[in-house]
Amino acid sequence: MIKSTSIAPSNIAFIKYWGKKDSSLKLPLNGSVSMNLSGMTTTTTVEFKKDFTEDEILIENDDRKKTKDRVSGHLDKIRQITEVDMKAKVVSRNNFPSSTGLSSSSSAFAALTLAAVNALNLHLSEKDLSILARQGSGSACRSIPDGFVEWLEGEDSNSSYSYSLHPPEYFDIADVVIVVSDKKKDISSTEGQILADTSPFMATRLANIKDKIIKIKQIINKKDFSSFGQLIESEALEMHAIMLTSNPPLIYWQPGTINIIKLVKKMRTEGLEVYFSLNTGQDVHIICKRKDVNKLEGYFRKIEEVKRIIVNYPSVGARLSDNHLF
Ligand code: DP6
Repeated sequence: MIKSTSIAPSNIAFIKYWGKKDSSLKLPLNGSVSMNLSGMTTTTTVEFKKDFTEDEILIENDDRKKTKDRVSGHLDKIRQITEVDMKAKVVSRNNFPSSTGLSSSSSAFAALTLAAVNALNLHLSEKDLSILARQGSGSACRSIPDGFVEWLEGEDSNSSYSYSLHPPEYFDIADVVIVVSDKKKDISSTEGQILADTSPFMATRLANIKDKIIKIKQIINKKDFSSFGQLIESEALEMHAIMLTSNPPLIYWQPGTINIIKLVKKMRTEGLEVYFSLNTGQDVHIICKRKDVNKLEGYFRKIEEVKRIIVNYPSVGARLSDNHLF
C-alpha cells in the first residue's frame, strides 16, 4: 500500500500537558488525562511515490510554511524508521474551523502518523503509534487510543505514550465547545510551553500533579460527575495561572472567554450541572452530562459573543478510512 487515509479526533485534557522536559522528543513534564472528541476530527490522506521530488503538503485553511515544515519533519521521522526515502503528497482537512484558534495539532498529527505509517505498510502497535504521534505534537499521542485516555509521563521516548482508560461509551458526558472569537491565537502551544518554567508557580504545580492524576482517574472510575467537574475547572484555571505568570505573560483570554466562564457558574446556581475547561486560546469547553446538551446549546445560542457551538461526545481514537481525499 502506498496511499492511505486516516481520521483522528481532537481531544480535551482534563489534567493538562503544559511544559516539556525534552522539546525535540516532546517529552512532557507531567502525565495527562483526556477524552477524545467526536465532533472535531482531522482527515488526512498520505501517498508516497518514487517519482515525487519533494513533499507536497496541502492543509485546508493553513498555507503557512511553518506548518508544512513541521509536517515534513514528522514524515522524515517516519521515513527514517521505515528506511524509505520516497517523498509524499499529504492532503489534510479538519471538520471544524481551524481559523478560530481551536487546537488542531492533536487530531492533525495523530491522523498524519496513522495514515503515513499505514501507507508504508508498517504495522505498529497502538503504543508505538502513540509514541510516534507524540513526536509530531505531544497531545496527538492521546488521540490514538479510544475514549478516555491517560498519557504516561515516562522516563524516555519509549515509556511516554498513551493508552485507553475506558471506552467512549463508559461515561455519559459531552464537551460543548463555545467558540467566542474568529481570532487565531497569536502564540502557539509549542511556543507558549517553552515559558512554563518561568512561572514561579510551576514547581508547586509539578509537586501536586501526580496526586491529581490519581484523583481524576479515581473520580472517572466512580463516574462522580460533581467531583470530576470541580477538579477539571480548577485544573484549567491552574494551567492558565501558570500562563499568566510566565515571563513574558501569556494571556489567551478574550472578553467572551470570561463572560462564558461566568455564565457557566451562573448556570450551576440555576441547577444545571456544567463545568468549563480551557486550552491555549480563547474558546471555552463546557463539560456536561449527555442529557443536558440540548438545554445547554439552546442557552448559549442566545448569547451574543458565541460565534459557533461544536457538540462533542467521547469518541474512538484514530482509525483508517477508505475515503481518500485525492
Ligand atoms: C493546552 O500538544 O499542542 O492543549 O507538543 O508543542 O505540539 P506540542 O503542544 P500541544 O499542547 C497542548 C496544550 C494544551 C493542553 C493539553 O492538551 O494537554
